[in-house]
Amino acid sequence: MNGTSNQQTHPRTWLITGATSGIGRELTLQALESGDVVSALARDTAPLEELTEVHGERLLLVPADVRDEQAVREAVERTLARFGRIDVVANNAGYGLFGAVEEASDAQTRAVFDTNVFGLLNVLRATLPVLRAQRSGHILQGSSVYGQSAHPGVGLLAATKHAVEGLSDALAAEVAPLGINVTIIQPGLTATPFLANLDVAPGLADYDQTVREVQKGIGELPASAFSAAARIAAGIRTAVDSPNPPLRLALGTSGATGMRAALEARIADLDSWKRVTDAVDR
Ligand SMILES: NC(=O)c1ccc[n+]([C@@H]2O[C@H](COP(=O)([O-])OP(=O)(O)OC[C@H]3O[C@@H](n4cnc5c(N)ncnc54)[C@H](OP(=O)(O)O)[C@@H]3O)[C@@H](O)[C@H]2O)c1
Repeated sequence: MNGTSNQQTHPRTWLITGATSGIGRELTLQALESGDVVSALARDTAPLEELTEVHGERLLLVPADVRDEQAVREAVERTLARFGRIDVVANNAGYGLFGAVEEASDAQTRAVFDTNVFGLLNVLRATLPVLRAQRSGHILQGSSVYGQSAHPGVGLLAATKHAVEGLSDALAAEVAPLGINVTIIQPGLTATPFLANLDVAPGLADYDQTVREVQKGIGELPASAFSAAARIAAGIRTAVDSPNPPLRLALGTSGATGMRAALEARIADLDSWKRVTDAVDR
């Protein structure tokens, strides 16, 4: 369930996490170029300073690590002090962990949940009171194709994105009556520093034929396998502009094909084991 209509104010105020790089940076640039204003949250705002020379007061740079709830709350206060409202919350900050489920350490696993899930929750708890008071707003939840699918090597990254999708399904239904939309963003492979920033778990030889094969395959992908971050940002903006935004937005054909296959496999299990499923009712 999603809100039925997206209330549009102009210019819109965006709050974007992970704005220094990749998809978040493109979203920041495109929002500014379209005439909107942006509160850009980043651990280190230095890479964005050049943009303030061009966009002046329309871009607010706020240092905030999404894992730090207090810093996120202060960032929201500064956003309100500058712009008075928040129309779009882009919960974009995140990174990947690669390795077999068994290979990743407890510390690596908790760290990726801290940013991708608990960081995203910090942003939700800080911004939802503003959106509820306004009775409007659009929350963009940073997921990926791994929000609905997984293959060897991405189990823990997928666990974070599945968590984001599960909570977002409920959130969307909770806030729709309050005039707030939620869209889960599911990019496929995108040309950003994401792979360079990947945390990689130390390998066990037993996973050479699965995890290491996938790793090798990813390393050999041609540049054409990756969407441009600018196109991902443009797709996101189309959803934000829509009077009827989707709950889920897949961005990239090959990722969407992978998700479709994963969803069909789930339906196939439901269908082929239906007799066992229904037998427990009687
Ligand atoms: N690239 C892909 O193939 C792909 C595919 C599907 C989904 N995604 C998702 O898209 C989102 C953006 O990734 P990207 O591809 O644009 O990668 P990216 O270029 O590495 O950007 C990630 C951004 O997140 C920020 N970030 C990471 N940890 C943070 C923290 N604790 N607090 C605040 N900011 C933090 C980074 O800031 P710093 O500069 O401080 O590190 C950076 O700005 C992620 O959620 C990712 O999972 C990416």
